[in-house]
Amino acid sequence: MSSHKRLFMCAVSDLAQGQVMLVEREEGNLAVYNVEGQFYVTDDRCSHGLASLAEGTVIGDEIECPMHFGMFKIATGEASGPPCSIPIRTYPVTIEGDQVFALVD
Ligand code: FES
Repeated sequence: MSSHKRLFMCAVSDLAQGQVMLVEREEGNLAVYNVEGQFYVTDDRCSHGLASLAEGTVIGDEIECPMHFGMFKIATGEASGPPCSIPIRTYPVTIEGDQVFALVD
């Protein structure tokens, strides 16, 4: 049995293409992205410092951190631009009707 649980992120209509938004939770904040109509969820906190990636800029399929402009691949969490070198965690996403959910631990 999986210990994953479905966590509501937002409505599909809440997030336009190329946007990212913050979802706060006790276990660590998450960022939800709409990349060309596909939704993705990652940890919100940059692996380089204390920045919130939800305050960053979606550039193509990457998120640019607002603090030192490091980059991550949104789909995989891979660090793709300096000074970031440590990946961020990503979470599977399901869409049910107009609702976006992440599968979290
Ligand atoms: Fe994100 Fe430095 S805190 S690049």
